[in-house]
Amino acid sequence: MKILAIETSCDETAIAVVECSGSKRKPEILVLSNLISSQVKLHAPFGGVVPNLAKREHQKSLVPLLLQSLNEAGLFKTEKPQPNLKAEKEIKIILEREVELLKQFKKSVIRLSVPNIDAIAVTYGPGLAPALWVGVNFAKALAFLWKKPLIPVNHMEGHVYSPLLKKSYEAKLHRIEFPALALLVSGGHTELVLVSNFGRYKIIGETRDDAAGEAFDKVARMLGFPYPGGPEISRLAEKGNEHAFSFPRPMIGSRDYDFSFSGLKTAVRYCIRDLEGKKIPKADLAASFEQAVVDVLVKKTIRAAKAIKVKTILLGGGVAANKKLRTYLREAAKKEIPEVGLLEPEISVTGDNALMIALAAYVAGKKKAPMSVEANANLRL
Ligand code: KG4
Ligand code: ZN
Repeated sequence: MKILAIETSCDETAIAVVECSGSKRKPEILVLSNLISSQVKLHAPFGGVVPNLAKREHQKSLVPLLLQSLNEAGLFKTEKPQPNLKAEKEIKIILEREVELLKQFKKSVIRLSVPNIDAIAVTYGPGLAPALWVGVNFAKALAFLWKKPLIPVNHMEGHVYSPLLKKSYEAKLHRIEFPALALLVSGGHTELVLVSNFGRYKIIGETRDDAAGEAFDKVARMLGFPYPGGPEISRLAEKGNEHAFSFPRPMIGSRDYDFSFSGLKTAVRYCIRDLEGKKIPKADLAASFEQAVVDVLVKKTIRAAKAIKVKTILLGGGVAANKKLRTYLREAAKKEIPEVGLLEPEISVTGDNALMIALAAYVAGKKKAPMSVEANANLRL
């Protein structure tokens, strides 16, 4: 089954083409193309993602990415333009609110011969509504034009399955033994999800305020680093002393599996304020803050894994790139629950990408009539 996947939930425009085979339990995946166009530089001066800028940029990037990915996948063929007035009329309606995208669509996509794919997958939430809609409408237009089914995918589902992908995208994937527990840590979400089977999820804990990545980004901003600051904080932390400041570990001992990072962020802010006039020990602050986040995430994940007696722990999301988190989780799991398998994502698939969307579509997706699919910014697992 060949799947073309599209991801535009936040500030990365991504398209992947994969060929999947095998059962859900033993899937194999051949990556034919996997492209990401990042908007990070565009949003950096604003200190965060600006939804309407993201929408404009997705519109600009989608068609060139599509052409490149079809080309890489060996599926690119142009045809003599045949006027298909009915299709053109319908596509004009689907892309009514994406004027720039419609222009490019009419110029080049409409002339492509129908590629040999079986379905189109698209992220339909959660995320920024204007950004999501561009991807969803683009996917609908393609599905309509090429008469292909659409598979709507929850973005967080992509992060759940991202650790199944092996190094250099070897075709055979890692296996999940169910029940599994997913720790999803990104810029918008921090969730502990019980995955009882492919496509079956229950959120057992989540953040009550800031997401882990959001806390990293806000602390980075306090220290004068541009958005997204997570990677910079973790780089800086490597040179710092994690015991230099004793920051709170919010909710580390609470009986539930929820998180809270807003108080920790405020503690860092007060600490910086109290240091006014002195040289700010940025590396020590970063290391102490990072340690506090990691301690809470690891402690609660291990406790949940023990209580629910899961067989696999899955780690996913942008913050999963954090080395300290990976090391501490690995060591705690080895020591406290050695019988549980831990699957960590390759660094290349921690951030947003369309490859994980294609994979989620294959193992957990359902084909839908294209016109019934709508973006949902607040979608939950
Ligand atoms: O999953 P993702 O790419 O986008 C969302 O769906 O939100 O996650 C982005 C988040 C940002 O907050 C970024 O600062 C954080 O992941 N991040 C990190 C690291 N790399 C990215 N946080 C901590 N340490 C890192 N190495
Ligand atoms: Zn994400």
